[in-house]
Amino acid sequence: MCGIVGYIGTQTATDILIAGLEKLEYRGYDSAGVATVLEGEIHRVRAKGKLYNLREKLERIENPARIGIGHTRWATHGKPEEHNAHPHVDTKMRVAVVQNGIIENYRDLREELKQRGHEFLTETDTEVIPLLIAEFLPKAPTDNYQYPSPFLEAVCKTVQRLKGAFAIAVICADYPDELIVARQQAPLTIGFGQGEFFCASDTPALVSHTRAVLTLENGEMARLTPMGVEVYDFQGHRLKKFPRTLDWNPVLAEKHEFRHFMLKEIYEQPGVVRTCLEAYLNSDWNAQANDKQPIQLGMPDSLYENLEQIQILACGTSWHASLVGKYLLEQLAGIPTVVQYSSEFRYAPPPLTTNTLTIGVTQSGETADTIAALEMERQRRTGLDSAYQPRLLGITNRPESSLAQLVPQVIHTHAGIEIGVAATKTFVTQLIVFYCLALDLAYRRQTLSASRIEEIIVGLRQLPAQIELILESQENYVEELAHQFQETQDFIFLGRGINFPIALEGALKLKEISYIHAEGYPAGEMKHGPIALLDAKVPVVAIAMPGSVYEKVLSNAQEAKARDARLIGVVPINDPEAAQTFDDLLPVPAVEELLSPILSVIPLQLLAYHIAARRGLDVDQPRNLAKSVTVE
Ligand code: M6R
Repeated sequence: MCGIVGYIGTQTATDILIAGLEKLEYRGYDSAGVATVLEGEIHRVRAKGKLYNLREKLERIENPARIGIGHTRWATHGKPEEHNAHPHVDTKMRVAVVQNGIIENYRDLREELKQRGHEFLTETDTEVIPLLIAEFLPKAPTDNYQYPSPFLEAVCKTVQRLKGAFAIAVICADYPDELIVARQQAPLTIGFGQGEFFCASDTPALVSHTRAVLTLENGEMARLTPMGVEVYDFQGHRLKKFPRTLDWNPVLAEKHEFRHFMLKEIYEQPGVVRTCLEAYLNSDWNAQANDKQPIQLGMPDSLYENLEQIQILACGTSWHASLVGKYLLEQLAGIPTVVQYSSEFRYAPPPLTTNTLTIGVTQSGETADTIAALEMERQRRTGLDSAYQPRLLGITNRPESSLAQLVPQVIHTHAGIEIGVAATKTFVTQLIVFYCLALDLAYRRQTLSASRIEEIIVGLRQLPAQIELILESQENYVEELAHQFQETQDFIFLGRGINFPIALEGALKLKEISYIHAEGYPAGEMKHGPIALLDAKVPVVAIAMPGSVYEKVLSNAQEAKARDARLIGVVPINDPEAAQTFDDLLPVPAVEELLSPILSVIPLQLLAYHIAARRGLDVDQPRNLAKSVTVE
């Protein structure tokens, strides 16, 4: 959460900073600010609320500065008011800092600084940083200085004092040709231009300027000057680092004819599912081809050898995808699998078991809780299983992220950049990866026959066209239906078996973008309490797909109907029994139960989107949320 940018070069810094912040606004939008160095002074402009407020302020100011930093905030410490907006400065306004993350020891540092006479003007954790840097700066210019720069040294000494996960960018009025950045468990990438250099929390802010990038690792800092970029560790030792070329499709980061990114991303699902399947299904394989493998995930044998258990760590929508993954891994590959919230796991980890594969699932690859939980497992498991390094695997949509730096094996979901805060296409591609992983394991462990694997693969290949069909046939209907729920205050979502996580996901989509209270339950649990919530004002959305629990879900839906609830069914196309049961139908192709989550989630995404859009809400940037949750 929070996005930071920085620029040093030959162009007007504020233009570059604002354009960069626009691309990072998905990370937080409570307030925004920039600071530049011009004629030996720091110039700072900040505004509460969305970025356009800052842009309006900046348009009224002439500022030709060529160096600056910017920030878009998701408030953690201190309310989203202008005085808490970044950049933060020292008392004499010589140093300005933007930060993404949390300085965990800020209370101690604050006390210490107060005792030395400093006054604090904000409630933020960040304010300690410019004050410390200013203290470490020389009081007067120093001759024959050996270190690359006193400014770098001051930042270096400061980051050694900070605890927590953070990325910072710093400028100083006394060093107008230096921009210093540092990274500790929060993302930061440097962009290399011709005589100009950039930094940002995420690459979308860099790609319109350059594809040559260097992602800092934890414990690294860099000094950007008009002459180039030098990388150091936190002890001040120079490191040899080289930029890489970013593979990027800028078309994906534009909204085109769609009203919101979320709707565009829902419509991209047939394409990204196809891409993901093409990446991992071996087109040369069939049930008779014994010499080949059906799935090409590139996982080493050592990852799977003697596997007895899988534990999956994730948050939010990725946690829901992991629940579907558990079902697949257990039912197809026969491996006991547990799914944990990363944030819970960290503080009550289960006893260690050997021969366990730990999978971290995070679309952004930056979720602080998931990264920290995986790091804990890496440490706990080192040396446990004498034959192996800890078995860690990541599933992510950002293979250049912190996750990829932490785990030795990564599976890319190939969804393309997702801008809408509500995850849609990254969710379905996470599911596709789980199908591939479960089939890969099933094949290698011989828990499924080749013909059954082929049957599932044939079904998977039909999914993109089936998603297209749902989108074509339902968009208008769902939009109309949404109109009727504009004023509804509570929703219940029901599913069973492999579609229970889809009920959870449908409820999460609705609540996060429409602010309507929604709960997902396993359909069979309703009568154990939640059914007391039902009356004519609480619509119930039930997922009733053909298979082992179809009749059960229909019975559970009838129980809700008997309590006057309006029933909406995600059901197979042309199913007379479903048509009799439900008041409103969201039909999807009748695929086998195992594959149905990929289809049943699509109408729920559309429903959530259209209800939120009808309510006139900011679908892509819902209140209080951020796309990438880089704080604990
Ligand atoms: O990047 P991650 O997958 O780790 O993010 C986890 C959650 O923060 C995320 O899924 C969140 O719940 C989304 N807003 C859901 O739409």
